[in-house]
Amino acid sequence: MSVSSTIPVELKHKLYEESVQNHEADLEFMEEQFERFRKRKPRTLREDFGGTAAMACDWVKIHPENKAWGIDLDPEPMKYGMENHYARLTDEQRTRMKYIEGNVLHNYDFKADIIAAFNFSYFIFKKRADLLEYFKKAYESLNEDGIFMVDIFGGTDCYEEQVEETEHDDHSYFWDCDKFNPLTSECLYYIHFKTHHDGKKYEKAFTYDWRHWTPMEIRELMEEAGFSKVYTYWEGEDEDGDGDGEFFLSDNEENCESWVIYIAGLK
Ligand SMILES: C[S@@+](CC[C@H](N)C(=O)[O-])C[C@H]1O[C@@H](n2cnc3c(N)ncnc32)[C@H](O)[C@@H]1O
Repeated sequence: MSVSSTIPVELKHKLYEESVQNHEADLEFMEEQFERFRKRKPRTLREDFGGTAAMACDWVKIHPENKAWGIDLDPEPMKYGMENHYARLTDEQRTRMKYIEGNVLHNYDFKADIIAAFNFSYFIFKKRADLLEYFKKAYESLNEDGIFMVDIFGGTDCYEEQVEETEHDDHSYFWDCDKFNPLTSECLYYIHFKTHHDGKKYEKAFTYDWRHWTPMEIRELMEEAGFSKVYTYWEGEDEDGDGDGEFFLSDNEENCESWVIYIAGLK
């Protein structure tokens, strides 16, 4: 492997989005579930830990009444998002999308139908009390029939100190579990990239110093935060045993090497 280079900011966010995000599927799933439980269409989406807020920008494109907010502490991904997603919206769509440089723990003067916290970003809260505080804030920030959606990952592989490589058209994505402390569930992950056209390796493009929460802990904490019902989903399998992208309600499944699922908290 070649010597690691410092990744340019634009490339870092571009490769990250191509590697880990799938907004169309996430948005379709959230809309479907909202309608299933609430018998109406959701119209407002708050994307917590939004980073580039690509999902929030997509949301306002779906319907002329949709509104979105993307909240993140870090101006760097937001700048990328404004230049690459917000800038591509029409003038009218831009009036319905707002970037907020701020903390998800703070109070905001609006409520949403859906709050989404994806790519496990809430793992940043390592203490139970801190995660509970966040879930309470999310609860308060939802409309009366609002739904809080998070994702979570696990499986027998996820605590192994190992690097998993995924090939994309023009780059490779590496998910590196560098450390897992079985006594505290604290874990340290890195994302590395390698671009194919020049063979450059970008080590530690992203670092995540997290606590690895489990679905049951999340369910209990959401209930404690006030959510009336909390549902876990599981992903179906195709004939090769790989995930088929179809998620269904379940609370009893056989473990596997690696899984990523949704959890919904209903206000
Ligand atoms: C793993 S990235 C997720 C980006 C995007 N949501 C996604 O799904 O790919 C986590 C983001 O959370 C942001 N963040 C961390 N703590 C935060 C907080 N307390 N309030 C708002 N944003 C926070 C970081 O700046 C970072 O951009």
